[in-house]
Amino acid sequence: MLILIFVSIIFILSILLSKQIHKFNYYIYALAFVISMIATGEKANIISLGYVALSYFIVVMYTGVFDKGKTKKKLMTVRAENAILGTIFLIPHAYGFLEFYLDDGRFFTSLVPVIGLIALLIAIPLFITSFRFIRKRFTYKEWKTLHKLAYAFYITVYLHLVFIDNSRLLIYTIIFGLFFILKGFEKLKNHMKTQKKLKKKMIY
Ligand code: HEM
Repeated sequence: MLILIFVSIIFILSILLSKQIHKFNYYIYALAFVISMIATGEKANIISLGYVALSYFIVVMYTGVFDKGKTKKKLMTVRAENAILGTIFLIPHAYGFLEFYLDDGRFFTSLVPVIGLIALLIAIPLFITSFRFIRKRFTYKEWKTLHKLAYAFYITVYLHLVFIDNSRLLIYTIIFGLFFILKGFEKLKNHMKTQKKLKKKMIY
């Protein structure tokens, strides 16, 4: 339930304040970083438990399946910002659990931290190339190809949650399942559209 509240708040802020978030993004990153550092030291909290990071990534995921229109446009304006913020809020979570499992020498005794680490490693190039001054160094095609990794990230995060296997698994399965179904439909729609165009070309 907490995740759905966070996701709704991030969606609403992204739509209502897209211009401001985009304009003041580096200040927001700095603030998020400070909050993350504070959350790292503290006892378990909504950030170090991974909920805030996951909520940002869910908004980034669903931004991609929104139908064209004003809402999608606003969400696309801050998609990079939401992805960057999600990764910044991941620091206390990854650091906390890595420290816990490595200290104990139990890192490889559970797939949860291992898959978590794989997800984090996939997120790093996506994070770096989400900054505009880095993105500019890539052609659109290169950047788009690299960002196909995002699907590997989403699948790895879902697997991470599957292996945690707690009472929230059903809601995670609905969120990730619906996303991949909508993405599948979108791909199918685009494929049929291209087929139709090709057919028309062949006729004329
Ligand atoms: C080095 C990387 C990571 C490590 C070592 C790690 C470790 C863990 C561990 C051990 C738990 C289970 C805690 C428990 O038993 O309740 C957990 C929970 C969680 N992890 Fe990760 N994780 C990592 C990366 C990620 C990433 C990339 C995400 C994506 C956003 C993520 C999202 C979550 C969430 C949302 C939970 C809480 C699930 C719930 O209780 O409903 N983690 N993580």
